[in-house]
Amino acid sequence: MAVGRVEAPNHPDQANGGLTRRYERATALAFVPSESEIASIYDRIAEEFFHHRHDTTTDFDIVGWPWMRTILNGRVNGKDVLDVACGTGVVSHKLFHDFEPESVQGVDISGEMIRISRREIRDKRARFSLQSASQMDFPDDSFDLAISTYGMDYIPDLSSALREIRRVLRPGGSFVFLVPHPNRNQLYYEGGGGEGPFSEGWYVETWPGAGGVEIPKHYLKLGTWIRELDLSGFNFKRMHEPHPLQPAMEAAPEIYQRYMRGPRTVIFDAVTEGARATALS
Ligand SMILES: C[S@@+](CC[C@H](N)C(=O)[O-])C[C@H]1O[C@@H](n2cnc3c(N)ncnc32)[C@H](O)[C@@H]1O
Repeated sequence: MAVGRVEAPNHPDQANGGLTRRYERATALAFVPSESEIASIYDRIAEEFFHHRHDTTTDFDIVGWPWMRTILNGRVNGKDVLDVACGTGVVSHKLFHDFEPESVQGVDISGEMIRISRREIRDKRARFSLQSASQMDFPDDSFDLAISTYGMDYIPDLSSALREIRRVLRPGGSFVFLVPHPNRNQLYYEGGGGEGPFSEGWYVETWPGAGGVEIPKHYLKLGTWIRELDLSGFNFKRMHEPHPLQPAMEAAPEIYQRYMRGPRTVIFDAVTEGARATALS
């Protein structure tokens, strides 16, 4: 697959500094990328990605994490947590900052991402290991909680990963993960990109960091995510569509305005057993 630098066209959102803003367009891929292709892209951009993700004014800090923190409240302290596709460990870091987990184990297929996680998070309760979520070497029933942020949409073999996460979770354990909302495609591409919220499959997006890097990404509709969870033995419990909370209006007005136009992310909350909830939040 051709992966390389591209010229980012001028776009109104680029005025905001580029990196955290626009993915210029998406091109459908006729094949599923391999894990090694994905890993080599992240190896290449790891350091820049680290600076981007550990910047505390990203969309995730302003909108996503406040929601995740609330959803995870009461479910982390004293627990063994798995951070799936942990990248540079930004969420592991937040777990230690905001909660008291017994342990946090991150997994990722990019050696550079894992190296940075180990470098940045020195907490004795943290472990980071280079392995695919689709084939983990942990025994059954190893964790109480699995989390993932912006990770499940990059995994080539999604169903194996979901089955593996299910396998390593203890009975009653949960999986809480955040991925881009399909509606984001409409919002991103309303300028003429042509990819709307019904797109499914693998697309290549241009990440504006590092001068423009093409990254393959898996688009799924909301119902497809839920079906995949069901097929993997999870009980889908809740789905959240984070909107910016009031403090964001002053702290980050641009992000606030953008998120008020429609959901950009979705958080799924699933359990390994228990009754299916009747109402969605
Ligand atoms: C957009 S980054 C997100 C990283 C991190 N969760 C965060 O929020 O910053 C996606 C990550 O998914 C990882 N990844 C892709 N496929 C994977 C797989 N099969 N198993 C584990 N990690 C994977 C990539 O290497 C990359 O680090």
